[in-house]
Amino acid sequence: MQTQLSTKHLLGIKYITKEDIELIFSTADEFKDVINRPIKKVPSLRDVTIANIFFENSTRTRISFELAERRLSADVVNFAASSSSVSKGETLLDTVNNILAMKVDMVVMRHPAPGAHHFLAKHIDANIINAGDGTHEHPTQALLDAYSIKEKLGSVEGKNIVIVGDIFHSRVALSNIFCLKKLGANVKVCGPATLIPRYITSLGVEVEYDIRKALQWCDVANVLRIQLERQDIKYIPSLREYSLYYGINKSLLQEINKDIVIMHPGPINRGVELTSDVADSGQSIILDQVENGVAIRMAVLYLLAGKK
Ligand code: CP
Repeated sequence: MQTQLSTKHLLGIKYITKEDIELIFSTADEFKDVINRPIKKVPSLRDVTIANIFFENSTRTRISFELAERRLSADVVNFAASSSSVSKGETLLDTVNNILAMKVDMVVMRHPAPGAHHFLAKHIDANIINAGDGTHEHPTQALLDAYSIKEKLGSVEGKNIVIVGDIFHSRVALSNIFCLKKLGANVKVCGPATLIPRYITSLGVEVEYDIRKALQWCDVANVLRIQLERQDIKYIPSLREYSLYYGINKSLLQEINKDIVIMHPGPINRGVELTSDVADSGQSIILDQVENGVAIRMAVLYLLAGKK
């Protein structure tokens, strides 16, 4: 079995192999044991300095990366663009070069521009991890999602997985599609036609516009947030109408009468894409996804730190 990643950065799931994903999963298994022990810390990244640079808001990803880094005994610096000299006009490259001059080894970055991480990877030496780049990719989210499916169902290969909602604006959707297809899952997307990009079938996924048919077909429904902050025009008449046609509630699941696993990357618009009686039900693994995120990010940081 492979013992090293094929890349020194995690820019997207598109650029890693099935074997890389399996190595991250087996490493995460070990770190999941570690974070469930009374003493949750290991010295694996002692003397490694990591900068978390967030140009967009985040709750889960930022906290999860910071916890993962501290559990590995790394030195951590946090940088929020809103309280930095970016607001005075400093460029992305100048900002990051100044941080690197302080001897930072790894950069975890969230940025609104798709491809920002590729730009950085061409100009700096540190390992770069994409924590979300605009509407493009969110690789650690896809890894923790697929890992959670494997944990719940025993494997990802051959499973029917539907991604529901705002596919057009979702970096989670694209990274999930790359990851699930590499692992051999059958993938459909479901949502209003205005929120499904035309190119999507070229990625090997099918489109289903009827939520009932999609739920009848699937083992897992990964339900996405409607990203109003990225919608420059009106893609749906109203959230109420979206919820009527695509929202998942208890009575819809009872009507389908099938043991579907419900996932959501968060943050949830409760009452829009999911009602609380579904989000908080026994069918939901939303908080398992969050727990697994720490183990997956520990695995990614640990494996990339060995790649200089
Ligand atoms: N899933 C996710 O990326 O959540 P945050 O935006 O809170 O990091």
